[in-house]
Amino acid sequence: MTLQQNTSPDSAPMSQIILTGDRPTGPLHLGHFVGSLRDRVTYQHQYRQFVMLADSQALTDNMDDLSKVHRNVLEVALDYLAVGIDPTKTTIFIQSQIPELTELTFYYLNLVTVARLERNPTVKAEIVLRGFERDIPAGFLTYPASQAADITAFKAGVVPVGEDQIPMIEQCNEIVRRFNRIVGRDILVEAKAFVPEVGRLPGIDGKAKMSKSLGNTINLGASADEIRAAVKNVYTDPLHLKVSDPGHIEGNVAFTYLDAFDTDKEGLAEMKAHYQRGGLGDSIVKKRLEGILQDLLAPIRARREEFAKDPAQVMKMLQEGTFKAREVAAATTDEVKKALGLSYF
Ligand code: TRP
Repeated sequence: MTLQQNTSPDSAPMSQIILTGDRPTGPLHLGHFVGSLRDRVTYQHQYRQFVMLADSQALTDNMDDLSKVHRNVLEVALDYLAVGIDPTKTTIFIQSQIPELTELTFYYLNLVTVARLERNPTVKAEIVLRGFERDIPAGFLTYPASQAADITAFKAGVVPVGEDQIPMIEQCNEIVRRFNRIVGRDILVEAKAFVPEVGRLPGIDGKAKMSKSLGNTINLGASADEIRAAVKNVYTDPLHLKVSDPGHIEGNVAFTYLDAFDTDKEGLAEMKAHYQRGGLGDSIVKKRLEGILQDLLAPIRARREEFAKDPAQVMKMLQEGTFKAREVAAATTDEVKKALGLSYF
């Protein structure tokens, strides 16, 4: 398979620009698939789409584990390719290789106060989650400014993100408005958050979020055996002790996953009714779920393995994408610096 980035993005008919990204801190899983990857495959036909491997942002809380970030750049890129994000349609790039993003961040830091950053609900929650207490890396506290740089450098009007990222977009837009007001021209573009309709996928253990750190994921590259084992452990209804007992659908992860992935809605409705009536064992439900997940993930795994055979080619694809993305970011940075009076020669 050859992996070439689209060489003429400027001729793309789509006028709207999308930017999204992921911190490369681990392989992607079904939660990412439902929450963002699936949509990106669709969006790439409708928008001019940029997808960023946010390795610089990942460093803001991973300075003690640099190899994790480095290693996962390739892993996440493989996940992108495996699900069908197509580098001829989507520009895939690496954040740290675009110095203009860092440059913009430095200017934007003057358009936001420390108090405002401390009030950002996502940052606030993440500080608690990471146990920083008073020892918050300054780069971590200020990463919303960096994220504003990512978005505005590409003049993205649309940013598809999970609900937890909405405060980032709001803060980005505050920076945009302040910047435009100060320079007296609309140079930067405000962005809209696109939040997927389907809710967040719970972990196999029933916790609200599927997350690598909670160890409750099914990864996109999972082997058939791993999928089987994960489905076996999927949280169901703890009150459904005997097959004849009526079972509950709410909070039953097996059914939540079936809702997300089973295309036979009629068959699924029948199964739910039977389960609620009593007389249907968990093993039957899980068998259906396993079949569906095996069918969904087998082609993704196969494509992933195919691309993984030639990592140099994947890196080359990323290099080409980064080169193209940098041209766009550099043009915006140029405008920004001129507007700030920082152009001399
Ligand atoms: N903060 C995002 C995450 O943790 C990653 C990210 C970095 C991002 N820059 C972005 C997402 C810009 C959207 C737009 O997943």
